[in-house]
Amino acid sequence: MKTTGLLVLPALASLVAAAPAPLVESNKLRRVIYRSELQARAKELDNIAKRNKGTRAWGTPGHWETLDWIEQQIPKEYYNVERQYFNISRTIHDEISITVDGVAATQVNGFTGGPNGTVSAPLVAIPNFGCDASDYPATVAGKIALVHRGNCNFGQKNARAGTAGAVGLVVWNNDPTSLTPTLGTPDLYNVTEFIVSAFLGQAEGAALVEKVGTGSLPATVKALFHYSVESTANIIATTKGGNQNSIITSGAHTDSVPAGPGINDNGSGTIAQIEVAKALTKFSVNNAIRFCWWAAEEDGLLGSEHYTSTIPEAEAAKIVMNLNFDMLASPNYLYSIYDGDGSTFASEYASVGSGLIEQTFIDFFKADGKSSVPTEFDGRSDYDGFLQVGIPAGGVFMGAEGIKTEEEQKLFGGTAGKPYDACYHAACDDENNLDYGAFVTGAKSMADALAKYGRSIEGFPFPRPAAKLKPRRLAEEPMVPNRAKGKHGKHGGCSQTQEA
Ligand SMILES: *[C@@H]1O[C@H](CO)[C@@H](O)[C@H](O)[C@H]1NC(C)=O
Ligand SMILES: *[C@@H]1O[C@H](CO)[C@@H](O)[C@H](O)[C@H]1NC(C)=O
Ligand SMILES: *[C@@H]1O[C@H](CO)[C@@H](O)[C@H](O)[C@H]1NC(C)=O
Ligand SMILES: *[C@@H]1O[C@H](CO)[C@@H](O)[C@H](O)[C@H]1NC(C)=O
Repeated sequence: MKTTGLLVLPALASLVAAAPAPLVESNKLRRVIYRSELQARAKELDNIAKRNKGTRAWGTPGHWETLDWIEQQIPKEYYNVERQYFNISRTIHDEISITVDGVAATQVNGFTGGPNGTVSAPLVAIPNFGCDASDYPATVAGKIALVHRGNCNFGQKNARAGTAGAVGLVVWNNDPTSLTPTLGTPDLYNVTEFIVSAFLGQAEGAALVEKVGTGSLPATVKALFHYSVESTANIIATTKGGNQNSIITSGAHTDSVPAGPGINDNGSGTIAQIEVAKALTKFSVNNAIRFCWWAAEEDGLLGSEHYTSTIPEAEAAKIVMNLNFDMLASPNYLYSIYDGDGSTFASEYASVGSGLIEQTFIDFFKADGKSSVPTEFDGRSDYDGFLQVGIPAGGVFMGAEGIKTEEEQKLFGGTAGKPYDACYHAACDDENNLDYGAFVTGAKSMADALAKYGRSIEGFPFPRPAAKLKPRRLAEEPMVPNRAKGKHGKHGGCSQTQEA
């Protein structure tokens, strides 16, 4: 028997190898997504963060190790795998100071953006929030304006103060927590340049307003910085099979914030893509599937924006749609789906294609006996760059630091009045932060959409009418961090710091 078996086995093996893989089907693909595997990957990713000072932020060893770890797991016989390097120009503050009447303040932060320099002039306190031209008296000309945080973006305060003739700006905080403020770009506020500015803590700011009163005090504001150009990379894996002229992209980001391991945000999307990519190898596809692991999402969607702003027009024309998966395992989750048709949240990005993707996810949750709700389709995640070049997008998001409502508790369980993810952007976003039941559902929603569109894009608006893409960049040009582009909206909240 044994001998016979040994003789038969190689023949059987070659028969099995020769048999073409069956065309992917949602239920079959979903059946080979395992909770235990998702859990094992979360532990591995958490261990990467743990042995790298608790973070996987881009540019750190923890992020490079994350990229190696992802690449090791992608089956190379099934996918063409590419590492797309790009540069990011970081602002490094060298000296930021505010000195008033000879006293140097202690709670001072530098803005990202704005001119590099030093100004010395009388400091005057501006009533209101300094958001409107009418807030500034004519006497502010040649002076440093002191304004309160609130009511409008920092860039707007800076632009209005500058337009009124102020030579410098101090913004003081309206709450005791520290933050890294960003000005954005001057053209957003109809000026060509910002004025030198610095950010002051709440207590010192309040004391200063008192001390200055309606008069003025001699002051110096220093904002000295340099740029540091650093490299990072996206990982792009495309199925060898399937029509290479009709590609479905799926994206998740690989970096965490510096403050934490980022296992839900967005380790969960990264892990789900690894597991779905592995499971897909048991099947064949009609349309190519391209998994993208984006870098530097946390600094303003830089990896995905790099990809979409440098992709040649002919290559962009081959991408049917982009699916986005970020935070797929929030502990106090809700199942929210980007409102691609703009039926709940009016959106300039709404389109027929994005509406069809939304419906695909709605149908998945419904068939699985689960509720789902729409969430703003506002371009504040890695799908933004795709929308900018006319590619429809959609995806699932399980909530960040926003607060669960009573109504959402009825639909999804969990705890109303508490954040969807209390560990959002924090050190406790580790393997124990995840809801693994929700995680399995999230990964299966990814498998379902990829199986459906990997089989057929019938009825989907594709090919699209030829479009001239803008904005285009040179791939060698470094990206500039812009935190204001982070996750935002009803279920997200403001991690960005451009908004006062
Ligand atoms: C910039 O100017 C345009 C056109 O005058 C105006 O519509 C817009 O509100 C201005 N933006 C800001 C931030 O002032
Ligand atoms: C800012 O000014 C300092 C001192 O003048 C200089 O060393 C530094 O290179 C400048 N930074 C930039 C980005 O120009
Ligand atoms: C994680 O993914 C979600 C869903 O796409 C996204 O909204 C969020 O911005 C991502 N996290 C961060 C920190 O950007
Ligand atoms: C990144 O910058 C370095 C140094 O300026 C340069 O040598 C390298 O080619 C750049 N990389 C890319 C991908 O543009």
